[in-house]
Amino acid sequence: MNYKLMHKDIHVADILIDETVCAIVKTGTVYHFEHLPVGCLDGKGHIDRAALNEWWRGRAIPASRQGIQEALCQMHMDMPQTLLEKCMGLSLSDQYWICPVDLQVKWSEVNFFENDFSEDVGNILFRKKLSKREINLFSPDNTSDGWLKKKWNISDGKRYLIKGGSGINRQEPYNEVFASILMERLGIAHVSYSLMVQEEEPYSVCEDFVGLGTELIRAWYIMQTAKKENHVSVYQHYLNCCENLGIKGVKEAIDRMLVVDYLIANEDRHQNNFGVLREAETLKWLGAAPIYDSGTSLWFSTPTAFVRGEAPKLASKPFKTSHEEQIKLVSSFDWLDTSGLKGVEEEFREVVKDSPFVDNARSDAICNAIRKRCEMLLKVIEERKKGRLVSADCFYDVEKDAAYSGKKDEN
Ligand SMILES: Nc1ncnc2c1ncn2[C@@H]1O[C@H](COP(=O)(O)OP(=O)(O)OP(=O)(O)O)[C@@H](O)[C@H]1O
Ligand SMILES: [Mg+2]
Repeated sequence: MNYKLMHKDIHVADILIDETVCAIVKTGTVYHFEHLPVGCLDGKGHIDRAALNEWWRGRAIPASRQGIQEALCQMHMDMPQTLLEKCMGLSLSDQYWICPVDLQVKWSEVNFFENDFSEDVGNILFRKKLSKREINLFSPDNTSDGWLKKKWNISDGKRYLIKGGSGINRQEPYNEVFASILMERLGIAHVSYSLMVQEEEPYSVCEDFVGLGTELIRAWYIMQTAKKENHVSVYQHYLNCCENLGIKGVKEAIDRMLVVDYLIANEDRHQNNFGVLREAETLKWLGAAPIYDSGTSLWFSTPTAFVRGEAPKLASKPFKTSHEEQIKLVSSFDWLDTSGLKGVEEEFREVVKDSPFVDNARSDAICNAIRKRCEMLLKVIEERKKGRLVSADCFYDVEKDAAYSGKKDEN
């Protein structure tokens, strides 16, 4: 079917989608190159259809999502991408959508920020059996990312994301709440998560941090705006891309994220778990997004007997594969008031105190491990005062690198 690719009410381009393979098989006139999804232009300023398809298909629920196969079965569908067209590609994290060419409809009439939406898809993903009535597929759950079970809902006119836990410990929702408390204590911009228990299952609940006018652009897409040369680290590449785009304050925000991830031993800060915000209509960059999705941390899948603050085997992301190396990327600790770390581990005990999943022995082990990591961080800061524990990546000078001219692929 022929669609208009829309950004709010801005007609960005004409596209042809083949429903059977859920792919953009043709792009027509581009009316507003600057409004194309970030990272979808090639080095010569032309639309990159492969990148656009990756962006489009990446809007769908990932195949790794808990319970997606059963849900698709109930909806008589083969792949999650089929759901994209059922909600016009609308999302609660950005302002893009697709509109059939012959349909006259305004953004204000369809967007999920202002209009009600169906919770059918979310409920099916939460394993609720729906009655035989027709399932309403007009839902932002069709375009939500991530592997944990989740759904959007509306309460008092606000949009909330409800997210479950995994494994026998179901620790992610508790971890999100603890991470919120930690960041609150340290004065770090974050999405605030609270705990909800439904039918004995814990969930984290957070408000949509994207509003009617703004949108989240995840780091992965920012990194597609320039070619990364082999001699440039992922850390420096990200900073360079942000600088080329004119996004301010990213290094400082990354410093804060790396400190939090070190303290909670986060194992999954991949390139879609952080990013920047911009104003959709004006394309004005607003800076780093508040920190979200910190649940895959605090030894969430480590058996209690192996929970240790040192955590030598826990992997880190996105810049270095070990936390010891990654913390060396922090450019400055001057902003950090370490008094906020005093007794913070007891907050975790409080968060899990009624949990049937995290017993006392596990809670003790994790509290001890958090304390240990706080001590380790204080030692890192002491070493840094002596000029030690600084990554070589911090000394890279973009001004002297011809690879960064602000264009993606010069070849
Ligand atoms: N509060 C929010 N407001 C707007 N968008 C959000 C919010 N929280 C999450 N998102 C979007 O939804 C996506 C999925 O959410 P999240 O990362 O929390 O899920 P997850 O299942 O824990 O992910 P992962 O697979 O990385 O573990 C995020 O990458 C982000 O694009
Ligand atoms: Mg995520």
